[in-house]
Amino acid sequence: METGPAWWKESIVYQIYPRSFQDSNGDGIGDLQGVISRLDYLRDLGIDVIWICPVYDSPNDDNGYDIRDYHRILDEFGTLEDMDELLGQAAARGIRIVMDLVANHTSDEHAWFVESRSSRDNPKRDWYIWKPPGADGKAPTNWESNFGGSAWEYDEATGEYYFHAFSRKQPDLNWENPEVRQAVYRMMEWWMDRGVAGFRVDAITFIKKNQRFPQLPAEEGRELASLNGGSLNQPGILDFLREMKREVLEPRNAVTVAEAPGVPLSQVPDYLDERDGVFSMLFQFDHVDLDMKPGPKAVYHPWRLTDFKRALAGWQRETEKYGWMALYLENHDHVRSVSKFGDDGEYRTESAQMLAAYYFLMRGTPFIYQGQELGMTNCPMDGIGDYDDIMSLRLYREGLESGRSEEEMLAYLAKRSRDHGRTPMQWSGGKNAGFTAGKPWLRINPNYPEINAERQEREEDSVLWFYKRLIRLRRENRALVYGDFCELYADSEQIGGYVRSLGGEKWTVLCNFTREPVPARMPENGRLALSNVKSRTHGFLAPYEASIFRETGNGDETI
Ligand code: NOJ
Repeated sequence: METGPAWWKESIVYQIYPRSFQDSNGDGIGDLQGVISRLDYLRDLGIDVIWICPVYDSPNDDNGYDIRDYHRILDEFGTLEDMDELLGQAAARGIRIVMDLVANHTSDEHAWFVESRSSRDNPKRDWYIWKPPGADGKAPTNWESNFGGSAWEYDEATGEYYFHAFSRKQPDLNWENPEVRQAVYRMMEWWMDRGVAGFRVDAITFIKKNQRFPQLPAEEGRELASLNGGSLNQPGILDFLREMKREVLEPRNAVTVAEAPGVPLSQVPDYLDERDGVFSMLFQFDHVDLDMKPGPKAVYHPWRLTDFKRALAGWQRETEKYGWMALYLENHDHVRSVSKFGDDGEYRTESAQMLAAYYFLMRGTPFIYQGQELGMTNCPMDGIGDYDDIMSLRLYREGLESGRSEEEMLAYLAKRSRDHGRTPMQWSGGKNAGFTAGKPWLRINPNYPEINAERQEREEDSVLWFYKRLIRLRRENRALVYGDFCELYADSEQIGGYVRSLGGEKWTVLCNFTREPVPARMPENGRLALSNVKSRTHGFLAPYEASIFRETGNGDETI
């Protein structure tokens, strides 16, 4: 199917984790004025849209993903006026803003929940999921929260349990209740009225719970079982999503990107088919979670390049039939891509550039996570005291309780902790990397004197400049936006590549994922459009080379 053009398909999105982006007042925490002060940097990079992680009032149990008031800005980040100013200043530079919509759950300090827990007959009781204790007096089911431990929290005052798919300070809203859904829709409209272009829809595949609330089969030796079987992409979820589309998204023409783990390829049309799906695009997890497997938690599983490529190519092939993808390698829930998929030592620059070329020119809208455009790396941590992320701290504690060593757990966090993606943005080689004049809320990666924006602006071979060139290339060539995708070297453990074609135009992307030169076939009539290697050797890809060829069709300037 030919899917239609749209502004957001031609856009590049930049994700901001406001806590770590730029502090403007010296309290060690990034804020909205800090974002405003960096808008020119973003304009010069060439992006069109900012997705800003939650900025709402929150007690910060999960860094803003636990919202206390949807209509207020977190004090540390600023005020509603600052938010309006950000919207205005961004618009003045041709940049749209997408907010994070966290509506699977609220904070337990949200007024709705405070009312809900106040008595069993409070009118808002049913806005959350309350259940009496199970027959044995324990939690109603054996479902395990995404952050570990039971997904149920006992509330002494009313003698019932409430459900939380994430932390106990993030009670899940009861989407079965139409009043809840209407309250969420009104809140969305309120933000759209302020000028946001749409939403990144947090944890949306969790909103529907299996209403039978069954016990789930647990692994041997464990009582708790992943809540996925009862609360992830459950039958009936589409009724809620289609209603949201009908009531808010469609009439407001909102652009959406759904955080959608747990959707098998066969069901993706329900979410993305441009004729009757729900969202503009979605984030899948296959390529970023290829080191995770069902079974004991906090175990790192080795993976191969073919696993990584298969994950991405599979989504390309599926969605090009009817819809559009969100392309990403990093966000605030993952480690730095150069540390995971590239080489963050000797070949940091080359491999960060290569990874950029590989994902960026696939079919979809590319998302860049703050610092990715600099090739920021995972951060060496001196011990558990350097970590902040609620999930990492929980995994660590549970690991020790189950008899695993401190060393083993720290080795795991060094490879998987969400904090690696959350260390402050490295703006300069100056004090605190130019992030804050005060004490940063999270450790700054000690490599900032070498890896920082100011320096990369000056060096034309930098990762930053390579991103700028890629953005320009994509902007100037429709085939790189709308062209068909055809994978090359699918079985190779060294090379990743593909062709994008539209009309008579054909582009070939070839990437070497290793530190050795690798023989490769260059396109017959290919003219080199962009490469991260200065002097190329015919018939070979240099270590971590990424080269992009445009086929001229007339045989001239063959490489
Ligand atoms: C996904 C968000 O990206 C993550 O940071 C958060 O912890 C969970 N959803 C819960 O809201």
